[in-house]
Amino acid sequence: MNKTKIVIIGVGAVGATTAYTLLLRERADELVLIDANKGKAKGDAIDMNHGLPFLGKTKVWAGEYEDCRDASIIVITAGAAQRPGETRVDLLKRNVGIFESIMTEVLKYNQDGILLIASNPVDIMSYFSWRKSQWPVQRIIGSGTLLDSSRFRYLIGEELGIDPRSVHAHIIGEHGDSELPVWSLANIAGTRIPLDEATKERIFTNTRDAAYEIISAKGATYYAIALALDRICTAILRDEGAVLNVSTLLQDYHGVSDVYLGVPCVVDRSGVREVLKLEISELEREQLHRSAQKMKELIHSIEI
Ligand code: NAI
Ligand code: 2OP
Repeated sequence: MNKTKIVIIGVGAVGATTAYTLLLRERADELVLIDANKGKAKGDAIDMNHGLPFLGKTKVWAGEYEDCRDASIIVITAGAAQRPGETRVDLLKRNVGIFESIMTEVLKYNQDGILLIASNPVDIMSYFSWRKSQWPVQRIIGSGTLLDSSRFRYLIGEELGIDPRSVHAHIIGEHGDSELPVWSLANIAGTRIPLDEATKERIFTNTRDAAYEIISAKGATYYAIALALDRICTAILRDEGAVLNVSTLLQDYHGVSDVYLGVPCVVDRSGVREVLKLEISELEREQLHRSAQKMKELIHSIEI
């Protein structure tokens, strides 16, 4: 039987927490940690190995780009992260430079895996990786608005005293300041969300601005994104056909084309198997177009 190998590139707050989450849940036979800071990757690998007597048989090591060979999934969490007061877009130029070198290395050793991108601004970094790799678009996935949708469902559930797993609600568009809530389709078991407009506005604002609040409180966000990345890896490895709000290339999605944005997608062994077209309202359509326009201007600014 083929071994399942996951490579994580960038073993900072997000990468290390993702590795630990994958380890605890025994998602892979082999977990490889790669970072420009080799000491950090090595230290994390040793530390995780010392926990193996309490877990299963995952093999964890600090590796080199050659280890991308045979990887089923390569998760990229490398690069600059926001400092308090910075937006995700402020990271763009620094992270494009870092991705240029990472992608060059990855592509030398792997041509048929799935790339899962988390580094910000994630929709642009995913688009950049797709263009640079020239791989089929379904195999380059951004974490998109999966985290934002999770925050949204949690906050709605909190307000109503309902388990967030029973709240069906989507944030779509940019993983960032231009994202939008799809209130027109939000529901609990098919029933409308019983909240007034002011409460809805407060919940969405808290969802959209959650990262700013967490970064100003403790410097970074990493637990929820690690669970979101684990969820995407699991959907791929188990060939689930799970519907997840990941970032993918849109083609005539309510008139939006040629940008990566977060929308509900069917995720399985092939990556993004299908993009689901939500029946959004006219206002939501306008907001989606504004989000796409912002992404296009950013893509243009770095001349991809
Ligand atoms: P961090 O600063 O803790 O870790 C970044 C790591 O990348 C460091 O260990 C650094 O040595 C490594 N790195 C830098 N250049 C590299 C290169 N050329 N090759 C290999 N490794 C390299 O940052 P953190 O908090 O882990 O965030 C990482 C990224 O994830 C940021 O861009 C952040 O904005 C993003 N992020 C995205 C989320 C999402 O929902 N998509 C959620 C949270 C963070
Ligand atoms: C987050 O939303 C910073 O993109 C990161 O937590």
